[in-house]
Amino acid sequence: MFAISLGDDGAELRPLEPWQADEFFANIERGRDFIGRHIGLPDRAKDVASARDFLQAYAEKAAADAGRIYGIWEDGTLVGGVLFRTMDPAGGTCEAGCWLEPSAVGRGLVTRAVTVIIDWALGERGLHRVEWQVSSANEPSINVARRLGMTHEGTRREDFLYQGVWQNTEVWSVLASEWHKHRAPSGS
Ligand SMILES: CC(C)(COP(=O)(O)OP(=O)(O)OC[C@H]1O[C@@H](n2cnc3c(N)ncnc32)[C@H](O)[C@@H]1OP(=O)(O)O)[C@@H](O)C(=O)NCCC(=O)NCCS
Repeated sequence: MFAISLGDDGAELRPLEPWQADEFFANIERGRDFIGRHIGLPDRAKDVASARDFLQAYAEKAAADAGRIYGIWEDGTLVGGVLFRTMDPAGGTCEAGCWLEPSAVGRGLVTRAVTVIIDWALGERGLHRVEWQVSSANEPSINVARRLGMTHEGTRREDFLYQGVWQNTEVWSVLASEWHKHRAPSGS
């Protein structure tokens, strides 16, 4: 299948589709506790059947132009992914998200992969704003938002009950004009 190179280390971004449910489930299994510390994604992939249902829901979102999901492969293994949880092309907005299994963290894979999909959303698709919603306890994900040049707009207090504890949700975003500056070669 076609792939976008994420750099010199051989990592690739590719479509992630229902037929790849086995690979997706294996990726989640390898990172279940780590990935699930702040987000409920592992609960959506409890076995191969529910993993397939999750990818099918994203295939349907893609068909409706309402969301997208892509996998990150390293040396032929699916190690994580990035997604548009929501997309509203008419309204000009979308919300991005991500996950990695533990062996893949610390190398910029997600920052590089989200950069590709934001380029597409705010460039080719002409959207206006990309949002990043993150638990205030999720420092690595907040750091991704910072690295992408996003702005912290505010924090919704205790709006999300997760594993029995109320979470604060930080809302970060980048606007198209800001993104184009962030992506411009320095000095231009
Ligand atoms: C959020 C998550 C994907 C962040 O992973 P990450 O590896 O820290 O993020 P990146 O892939 O962008 O890598 C950044 C790290 O690689 C380093 N790095 C190396 N090369 C890099 C490059 N070319 N570009 C950017 N960063 C690079 C950075 O310095 C940073 O390391 P540091 O945190 O020690 O400073 C990960 O913690 C995760 O999957 N968590 C569980 C799921 C989750 O919470 N998802 C977010 C929901 S909002």
